[in-house]
Amino acid sequence: MSRQMIAGNWKMNGLTAEADALAAALLRGVGERAGAPGAELLVCPPFTQIAAVSRLLAGSDIRVGGQDCSMHEKGAHTGDVSPSMLRDLGATHVILGHSERRQNHNELDETVREKCVAARRAGLVPIVCVGETAEQRSADGHEETVGWQLKGSLPDGFADEEAIVAYEPVWAIGTGRTATAEDVAAMHGFIRAELKRQFSESGEKVRILYGGSVNAGNAATLLAIPEVGGALVGGASLKPDDFLQILSAAQ
Ligand code: G3H
Repeated sequence: MSRQMIAGNWKMNGLTAEADALAAALLRGVGERAGAPGAELLVCPPFTQIAAVSRLLAGSDIRVGGQDCSMHEKGAHTGDVSPSMLRDLGATHVILGHSERRQNHNELDETVREKCVAARRAGLVPIVCVGETAEQRSADGHEETVGWQLKGSLPDGFADEEAIVAYEPVWAIGTGRTATAEDVAAMHGFIRAELKRQFSESGEKVRILYGGSVNAGNAATLLAIPEVGGALVGGASLKPDDFLQILSAAQ
Protein backbone atom coordinates (compact mmCIF):
# COMPACT_ATOMS: atom_id res chain seq x y z
CA MET A 1 0.00 0.00 0.00
CA SER A 2 1.43 3.39 -0.98
CA ARG A 3 1.76 6.32 1.41
CA GLN A 4 -1.46 8.11 2.20
CA MET A 5 -2.12 11.51 0.67
CA ILE A 6 -3.48 14.52 2.49
CA ALA A 7 -4.82 17.00 -0.05
CA GLY A 8 -6.16 20.43 0.81
CA ASN A 9 -8.81 21.96 -1.42
CA TRP A 10 -8.82 25.66 -0.64
CA LYS A 11 -11.88 26.15 -2.89
CA MET A 12 -12.59 29.83 -3.66
CA ASN A 13 -10.59 31.15 -0.71
CA GLY A 14 -7.35 33.06 -0.51
CA LEU A 15 -6.36 36.54 -1.60
CA THR A 16 -2.63 36.97 -2.03
CA ALA A 17 -1.73 37.75 1.57
CA GLU A 18 -3.85 34.89 2.96
CA ALA A 19 -2.56 32.35 0.45
CA ASP A 20 1.04 33.37 1.08
CA ALA A 21 0.56 33.15 4.85
CA LEU A 22 -1.08 29.74 4.60
CA ALA A 23 1.66 28.37 2.36
CA ALA A 24 4.36 29.80 4.63
CA ALA A 25 2.73 28.27 7.73
CA LEU A 26 2.56 24.86 6.05
CA LEU A 27 6.16 25.12 5.00
CA ARG A 28 7.19 25.90 8.57
CA GLY A 29 5.05 23.12 9.99
CA VAL A 30 6.36 20.53 7.56
CA GLY A 31 9.92 21.72 8.21
CA GLU A 32 9.44 21.12 11.94
CA ARG A 33 8.33 17.57 11.20
CA ALA A 34 11.49 16.88 9.17
CA GLY A 35 12.40 13.22 9.27
CA ALA A 36 8.94 12.12 10.43
CA PRO A 37 7.49 9.46 8.16
CA GLY A 38 4.36 10.75 6.65
CA ALA A 39 1.83 11.16 3.98
CA GLU A 40 2.19 12.97 0.69
CA LEU A 41 0.97 16.52 1.02
CA LEU A 42 -0.87 18.47 -1.66
CA VAL A 43 -2.53 21.89 -1.64
CA CYS A 44 -4.97 23.06 -4.30
CA PRO A 45 -5.29 26.85 -4.16
CA PRO A 46 -7.60 28.82 -6.47
CA PHE A 47 -6.20 29.42 -9.97
CA THR A 48 -5.14 32.95 -9.10
CA GLN A 49 -2.77 31.77 -6.35
CA ILE A 50 -1.23 28.69 -7.96
CA ALA A 51 1.82 30.47 -9.37
CA ALA A 52 2.67 32.25 -6.11
CA VAL A 53 2.04 29.21 -3.92
CA SER A 54 4.10 27.00 -6.25
CA ARG A 55 6.98 29.45 -6.00
CA LEU A 56 6.75 29.57 -2.21
CA LEU A 57 6.65 25.78 -1.92
CA ALA A 58 9.31 25.08 -4.57
CA GLY A 59 11.94 22.69 -3.27
CA SER A 60 9.65 21.40 -0.48
CA ASP A 61 7.74 18.12 -0.38
CA ILE A 62 4.41 19.92 -0.62
CA ARG A 63 2.85 19.54 -4.05
CA VAL A 64 0.47 22.00 -5.67
CA GLY A 65 -2.66 21.21 -7.69
CA GLY A 66 -5.54 22.88 -9.47
CA GLN A 67 -9.22 22.55 -8.55
CA ASP A 68 -10.39 22.05 -12.14
CA CYS A 69 -9.11 22.35 -15.70
CA SER A 70 -10.41 22.57 -19.22
CA MET A 71 -10.75 19.52 -21.45
CA HIS A 72 -9.22 21.64 -24.24
CA GLU A 73 -5.59 22.35 -24.78
CA LYS A 74 -5.89 25.91 -26.10
CA GLY A 75 -8.04 28.23 -28.16
CA ALA A 76 -11.37 30.01 -27.97
CA HIS A 77 -12.48 28.97 -24.46
CA THR A 78 -12.92 32.24 -22.61
CA GLY A 79 -12.27 31.95 -18.91
CA ASP A 80 -10.99 28.37 -19.04
CA VAL A 81 -7.58 27.16 -17.93
CA SER A 82 -5.88 24.31 -19.75
CA PRO A 83 -4.05 21.44 -18.05
CA SER A 84 -0.74 22.56 -19.54
CA MET A 85 -1.29 26.05 -18.13
CA LEU A 86 -1.57 24.43 -14.70
CA ARG A 87 1.60 22.44 -15.34
CA ASP A 88 3.31 25.61 -16.46
CA LEU A 89 2.56 27.17 -13.05
CA GLY A 90 4.04 24.24 -11.18
CA ALA A 91 0.93 22.14 -10.55
CA THR A 92 1.32 18.38 -10.48
CA HIS A 93 -2.30 17.36 -9.73
CA VAL A 94 -5.81 18.54 -10.52
CA ILE A 95 -9.12 17.88 -8.78
CA LEU A 96 -11.81 16.90 -11.30
CA GLY A 97 -15.54 16.31 -10.97
CA HIS A 98 -15.84 17.81 -7.51
CA SER A 99 -19.54 17.84 -6.54
CA GLU A 100 -19.46 21.64 -6.49
CA ARG A 101 -18.43 21.55 -10.18
CA ARG A 102 -20.98 18.85 -10.95
CA GLN A 103 -23.76 20.85 -9.24
CA ASN A 104 -22.85 24.46 -10.00
CA HIS A 105 -21.47 23.97 -13.50
CA ASN A 106 -23.55 21.00 -14.62
CA GLU A 107 -20.50 18.84 -15.15
CA LEU A 108 -21.47 15.39 -16.34
CA ASP A 109 -19.45 12.20 -16.04
CA GLU A 110 -18.51 12.52 -19.75
CA THR A 111 -17.12 16.01 -19.10
CA VAL A 112 -15.10 14.75 -16.17
CA ARG A 113 -13.78 11.87 -18.28
CA GLU A 114 -12.66 14.19 -21.09
CA LYS A 115 -10.98 16.53 -18.59
CA CYS A 116 -9.27 13.53 -17.08
CA VAL A 117 -7.87 12.48 -20.46
CA ALA A 118 -6.63 16.03 -21.12
CA ALA A 119 -5.07 16.33 -17.65
CA ARG A 120 -3.20 13.03 -17.99
CA ARG A 121 -2.01 13.97 -21.48
CA ALA A 122 -0.50 17.16 -20.00
CA GLY A 123 1.25 15.19 -17.26
CA LEU A 124 -1.10 16.09 -14.40
CA VAL A 125 -2.42 13.53 -11.93
CA PRO A 126 -6.20 13.85 -11.78
CA ILE A 127 -8.06 13.38 -8.50
CA VAL A 128 -11.50 12.30 -9.66
CA CYS A 129 -14.31 12.95 -7.18
CA VAL A 130 -17.42 10.81 -6.80
CA GLY A 131 -20.13 10.76 -4.15
CA GLU A 132 -23.85 10.56 -3.59
CA THR A 133 -26.33 13.17 -2.39
CA ALA A 134 -28.34 12.78 0.82
CA GLU A 135 -31.43 11.87 -1.24
CA GLN A 136 -29.56 9.17 -3.13
CA ARG A 137 -28.28 7.69 0.12
CA SER A 138 -31.63 7.73 1.85
CA ALA A 139 -33.15 5.99 -1.17
CA ASP A 140 -30.37 3.38 -0.88
CA GLY A 141 -28.99 4.52 -4.24
CA HIS A 142 -25.50 5.47 -3.05
CA GLU A 143 -23.67 2.50 -4.51
CA GLU A 144 -25.53 2.71 -7.81
CA THR A 145 -24.73 6.45 -8.06
CA VAL A 146 -21.06 6.05 -7.28
CA GLY A 147 -20.81 3.00 -9.56
CA TRP A 148 -22.16 5.01 -12.52
CA GLN A 149 -19.90 7.95 -11.72
CA LEU A 150 -16.85 5.69 -11.72
CA LYS A 151 -17.85 4.04 -15.00
CA GLY A 152 -18.62 7.36 -16.66
CA SER A 153 -15.80 9.54 -15.31
CA LEU A 154 -12.72 7.33 -15.47
CA PRO A 155 -11.13 6.89 -18.90
CA ASP A 156 -9.45 3.73 -20.21
CA GLY A 157 -5.96 3.36 -18.82
CA PHE A 158 -6.78 5.47 -15.74
CA ALA A 159 -5.71 2.91 -13.14
CA ASP A 160 -1.96 3.34 -12.80
CA GLU A 161 0.30 3.84 -9.76
CA GLU A 162 -0.52 7.54 -9.55
CA ALA A 163 -4.27 7.33 -10.05
CA ILE A 164 -6.50 8.87 -7.39
CA VAL A 165 -10.24 8.76 -6.78
CA ALA A 166 -11.85 10.75 -3.95
CA TYR A 167 -15.07 9.57 -2.35
CA GLU A 168 -16.90 12.62 -1.08
CA PRO A 169 -20.49 12.09 0.04
CA VAL A 170 -22.13 15.39 -0.93
CA TRP A 171 -24.06 15.56 2.35
CA ALA A 172 -20.80 15.45 4.33
CA ILE A 173 -19.11 18.34 2.50
CA GLY A 174 -18.82 21.45 4.62
CA THR A 175 -21.58 20.26 6.93
CA GLY A 176 -19.56 18.97 9.88
CA ARG A 177 -21.43 15.68 9.33
CA THR A 178 -18.84 13.01 8.58
CA ALA A 179 -19.80 9.63 7.23
CA THR A 180 -19.58 6.89 9.87
CA ALA A 181 -16.54 4.64 9.84
CA GLU A 182 -18.82 1.77 8.77
CA ASP A 183 -20.22 3.76 5.83
CA VAL A 184 -16.73 4.85 4.75
CA ALA A 185 -15.41 1.29 4.99
CA ALA A 186 -18.36 -0.07 3.01
CA MET A 187 -18.15 2.56 0.28
CA HIS A 188 -14.37 2.37 -0.10
CA GLY A 189 -14.66 -1.42 -0.34
CA PHE A 190 -17.37 -1.00 -2.98
CA ILE A 191 -15.23 1.50 -4.94
CA ARG A 192 -12.25 -0.87 -4.84
CA ALA A 193 -14.40 -3.72 -6.17
CA GLU A 194 -15.77 -1.49 -8.95
CA LEU A 195 -12.26 -0.33 -9.89
CA LYS A 196 -11.17 -3.95 -10.15
CA ARG A 197 -14.21 -4.75 -12.28
CA GLN A 198 -13.41 -1.80 -14.55
CA PHE A 199 -9.63 -2.11 -14.74
CA SER A 200 -8.91 -5.71 -13.65
CA GLU A 201 -5.94 -6.03 -11.29
CA SER A 202 -4.78 -2.48 -12.08
CA GLY A 203 -7.80 -1.33 -10.08
CA GLU A 204 -5.78 -2.27 -6.98
CA LYS A 205 -3.31 0.52 -7.70
CA VAL A 206 -5.76 3.40 -7.40
CA ARG A 207 -5.56 5.44 -4.21
CA ILE A 208 -9.01 6.20 -2.77
CA LEU A 209 -9.24 9.37 -0.67
CA TYR A 210 -12.11 10.20 1.66
CA GLY A 211 -13.46 13.76 1.77
CA GLY A 212 -16.27 15.39 3.73
CA SER A 213 -15.81 17.29 7.00
CA VAL A 214 -12.43 15.73 7.75
CA ASN A 215 -10.88 17.61 10.67
CA ALA A 216 -8.13 17.33 13.27
CA GLY A 217 -10.48 15.43 15.61
CA ASN A 218 -11.76 12.73 13.26
CA ALA A 219 -8.79 12.28 10.92
CA ALA A 220 -7.10 9.45 12.83
CA THR A 221 -10.29 7.34 12.83
CA LEU A 222 -11.04 7.97 9.16
CA LEU A 223 -7.47 7.42 7.99
CA ALA A 224 -7.25 4.08 9.82
CA ILE A 225 -10.12 2.58 7.83
CA PRO A 226 -9.06 -0.09 5.32
CA GLU A 227 -8.98 1.18 1.72
CA VAL A 228 -8.77 4.83 2.83
CA GLY A 229 -5.69 6.08 1.01
CA GLY A 230 -5.80 9.59 2.40
CA ALA A 231 -8.08 12.60 2.73
CA LEU A 232 -9.34 15.44 0.58
CA VAL A 233 -9.83 18.26 3.05
CA GLY A 234 -11.81 21.45 2.47
CA GLY A 235 -12.47 23.80 5.40
CA ALA A 236 -9.78 22.41 7.70
CA SER A 237 -7.13 22.87 5.00
CA LEU A 238 -7.44 26.63 5.48
CA LYS A 239 -6.26 26.30 9.10
CA PRO A 240 -2.58 25.31 9.05
CA ASP A 241 -2.55 23.83 12.56
CA ASP A 242 -5.56 21.64 11.82
CA PHE A 243 -4.23 20.60 8.43
CA LEU A 244 -0.88 19.64 9.95
CA GLN A 245 -2.65 17.63 12.64
CA ILE A 246 -4.50 15.76 9.91
CA LEU A 247 -1.14 15.13 8.25
CA SER A 248 0.19 13.73 11.53
CA ALA A 249 -2.73 11.31 11.71
CA ALA A 250 -1.89 9.86 8.28
CA GLN A 251 0.22 6.78 7.62
O1 G3H B 1 -12.73 18.92 -1.52
C1 G3H B 1 -13.01 18.90 -0.33
C2 G3H B 1 -14.31 18.55 0.13
O2 G3H B 1 -15.32 19.18 -0.58
C3 G3H B 1 -14.51 18.52 1.62
O3 G3H B 1 -14.80 19.79 2.14
O4 G3H B 1 -13.71 19.31 4.33
O5 G3H B 1 -15.02 21.41 3.97
O6 G3H B 1 -16.17 19.20 4.12
P1 G3H B 1 -14.93 19.93 3.73
